[in-house]
Amino acid sequence: MTLKEQILLLLEHNRDRSLSGQELAQTLGVTRGGIWKAIHALQDEGYAIEAVSNRGYRLLKSPDALSVSYLEDALQKEGILLPVILKKETGSTNNDLKQLVNEGETKDLVLLADHQTAGRGRRGRSFYSPAGTGLYLSFLLHPHVNAALGSMLTTLAAVAASKAIEETCKKDALIKWVNDVYVPNENTLKKVCGILTECSVSMEDQTLDYVIVGIGFNVYEPDGGFPADIEQKAGSILGNVPKEENHRNRLAASFIHHFMEYYKSFPQISFHEEYKKRCFVLGKEILLLPTGCEDLPSATKDPKFPSVKALDLDESFGLIVEYPDGHRETLTSGEFSIRF
Ligand code: BTN
Repeated sequence: MTLKEQILLLLEHNRDRSLSGQELAQTLGVTRGGIWKAIHALQDEGYAIEAVSNRGYRLLKSPDALSVSYLEDALQKEGILLPVILKKETGSTNNDLKQLVNEGETKDLVLLADHQTAGRGRRGRSFYSPAGTGLYLSFLLHPHVNAALGSMLTTLAAVAASKAIEETCKKDALIKWVNDVYVPNENTLKKVCGILTECSVSMEDQTLDYVIVGIGFNVYEPDGGFPADIEQKAGSILGNVPKEENHRNRLAASFIHHFMEYYKSFPQISFHEEYKKRCFVLGKEILLLPTGCEDLPSATKDPKFPSVKALDLDESFGLIVEYPDGHRETLTSGEFSIRF
């Protein structure tokens, strides 16, 4: 940890009082001059640190910059000893992990980025990942389970993301079957979170060699808004609030914590109820669009695409639907996308 990171951590944990230069210097084993220089560097980076003579330094506001030391510290307190890698900018966090695997990485770890220049979404789409407003992270995991269970990790991530949003941002989070997370925004629901799970399967016994679970959160409204092609659907969790409450770090720490809590007992599914209570399609009339047709604007009026009632979820998160003639069917993820 750098000196700046150590000072920040101490200030963060003592927000209710000032810490003197002497106290900081002694705790960290450096000179008071060294502390003074590091505090100035932090102020230049946007941290509002009050400096009062005879009292010391107190953190008033932080610019919500992602911080490995904050995350490691928060995770350690929860007993989670997962290595954390943070990049300011990268192409795609999922691709980075694939590269690490190709270079021989065998440990579980999590990699976060402030900005992705080539963020990837499902079905070959891109995922808009601007700097400073979102949170893009991927887990590299090695669960010894049958490959068919891999998709459950996406579902697990959707529940963990919803809990983290509720806990740290105080917003309701809802899940659109199968795995997109939405937040209410000015009388509409907007997608604030997308998940892309990729895996490698052993040909020998059909178990997973490794899984990469990548998730992107739109935390704040991007400068200039979302691009035109996604602005109808995409939204941010917090909108235009000032970036000063360490929201992204707290959201990341909470998400990783909830994810790892559920992952501990995986493949046992301990999150079915939590998923179901947030799954906002249940009880609604929905339009079933076969994969590949989900973007057709005319689909709503096309009799080819049936309107059905979403009744319930089975234990594998299959969606039980009822057709107008009364017959029922259980849909599995990947077959269909739904629209209201
Ligand atoms: C989707 O909604 O289609 C899925 C989006 C997944 C985006 C995340 S951001 C972190 C990770 N890295 C990527 O390139 N994609 C995933």
